[in-house]
Amino acid sequence: RNETQLRPQTLADYIGQEIVKQNLSVFLKAARMRKEALDHVLLYGPPGLGKTTLAAIIAAEMGGELRVTSGPAIEKAGDLAAVLTALEPGDVLFIDEIHRLNRVVEEVLYPAMEDFCLDIVIGKGPTARSVRIDLPPFTLVGATTRAGMISSPLRDRFGVLLRLEYYQPEELIQIVTRSARVFGVSLAEEAALEIARRSRGTPRIANRLLRRVRDFAQVQSDGTVTYDIACSALEALQVDPLGLDHIDDKLLRGMMEKFSGGPVGLDTIAATIGEESDTIEEVYEPYLLQIGFVQRTPRGRVVTRQCYAHYGLQPQEDAHG
Ligand code: ADE
Repeated sequence: RNETQLRPQTLADYIGQEIVKQNLSVFLKAARMRKEALDHVLLYGPPGLGKTTLAAIIAAEMGGELRVTSGPAIEKAGDLAAVLTALEPGDVLFIDEIHRLNRVVEEVLYPAMEDFCLDIVIGKGPTARSVRIDLPPFTLVGATTRAGMISSPLRDRFGVLLRLEYYQPEELIQIVTRSARVFGVSLAEEAALEIARRSRGTPRIANRLLRRVRDFAQVQSDGTVTYDIACSALEALQVDPLGLDHIDDKLLRGMMEKFSGGPVGLDTIAATIGEESDTIEEVYEPYLLQIGFVQRTPRGRVVTRQCYAHYGLQPQEDAHG
């Protein structure tokens, strides 16, 4: 996929996340000066904000290779041992969805992170013995959608914790403008703004919308992405002016129409609209919380007045009182 060509290679080319960049550049420089591996890094925040991209940049800036795996892919201690023993000094091991590592694998990871070693038990019963394998100094970059989802012993072993935030529209404009340049597509400034506005603060969504809008421009016009082409394409793609898609729509309408705007439990909402609770919590809900359409209360999720207003509906209390 041409996802990789869109990814910036250096921290200087990485747009937005200014606090993360400022801090990370200091830690990278200090580690380079000491000729040490960078301390382990935990990246957390909603999906699509550039966690994998940052891991690749960390590897490049430290002059190591990036090895990519994920929590669900490492099922057994041996799977992790295989990954760790293949590392070279200074490599970066990126574990996406690190909160999904199982307990047994986590236990193997602790000494690897702290002392760069593996304690492997060979055999069973009375003849079983433990073998220690030294590992090269490496940097673990873990990614999760919420820091609270990983166990505290694991979290405590990361020296650098970085939280990624949703991007501002101006930053997304820069990102899609850069992407358009990579694609060799002419993109009008107002078209870039319209894509940026409808991308839920998320570069992955912005770049996806840019690709689809480019398709419309190519087929229906001369390939130039004008403001009018962008708007009609975004309408055809059923992306509303706030970037809400049909799943957000189903979620919010479901809460308003079937549960009088809440409070309603996450699992109940999930069952009603036929989506996974985890997907709602990790993918859809963070942005709805961010724009103030949904709030969490001890008794469940509630839809706010802003959300009712966006849909032109009356909140239940108002209708009765
Ligand atoms: N592409 C995706 N995320 C990006 C970012 N933060 N900066 C530049 N290009 C990107």
